[in-house]
Amino acid sequence: MTTPNRPENTPPADSDTPLAWTFFRQWLKNPLAVAAFSPSGRQLARQMIAELPHGVRRVIELGGGTGVFTRALIGHGILPADLLVLELNEALYRHLQVRFRGSHVVCGDARKLHELATSDGFLAAGPADAVISGLGLLSMPRRLQAEILEAGFSTLTPEGRFIQFTYGPKSPVSRELLAELGLSVRRGGFAWWNMPPATVYVFTRNRSRGIHAKRGTVMPGAEQ
Ligand SMILES: C[S@@+](CC[C@H](N)C(=O)[O-])C[C@H]1O[C@@H](n2cnc3c(N)ncnc32)[C@H](O)[C@@H]1O
Repeated sequence: MTTPNRPENTPPADSDTPLAWTFFRQWLKNPLAVAAFSPSGRQLARQMIAELPHGVRRVIELGGGTGVFTRALIGHGILPADLLVLELNEALYRHLQVRFRGSHVVCGDARKLHELATSDGFLAAGPADAVISGLGLLSMPRRLQAEILEAGFSTLTPEGRFIQFTYGPKSPVSRELLAELGLSVRRGGFAWWNMPPATVYVFTRNRSRGIHAKRGTVMPGAEQ
């Protein structure tokens, strides 16, 4: 869905070296939260983008970092106004805010995504088609994973996708937790050249049960 000749669709010019330093400094300050010492590579960004649903229009990005995925999303044709980027780290948030002025850039915790996207006004135009997550889900405790998945799916259309990468050899979310939340997982592409190499996973709601679309609550037994 790339639309050439639209000025707002042009990704900001990239200069990866200073961005890598910005990211590395934040990792030194808080390695657990930042979860990687360098930003994702472009191959991984392409693999994440490849999992967007056909006809995608509105996207939420979790853990924007220095904006590798943000840039790829805009390059793919997502209009800046249809993109919400959430980042917890204040320095990285300020960087994203300057770099992606036309987008909804919000500082806050992914667990509070529904509230933050509502108060920002992003959800007034409807739910998102996809969540692209750069969060270090693999190293998070199960409860935190559940809260983040619940929050993500509460902002998505019923068919919406939660797209996640991981450095581990399998899905970062256990089968048990997926079953509890009424979610399914599918393995996507593998980015060999990423540092470290990473695999993409796509989470979707099960047809008959799963996290509800609107209110940010989980109803594992509920029919949709
Ligand atoms: C592994 S980095 C990925 C950054 C970027 N997406 C990339 O791929 O280069 C994880 C990012 O998520 C942010 N983050 C960690 N926990 C978060 C949370 N609970 N809510 C929002 N952002 C969070 C970190 O500050 C960091 O920028």
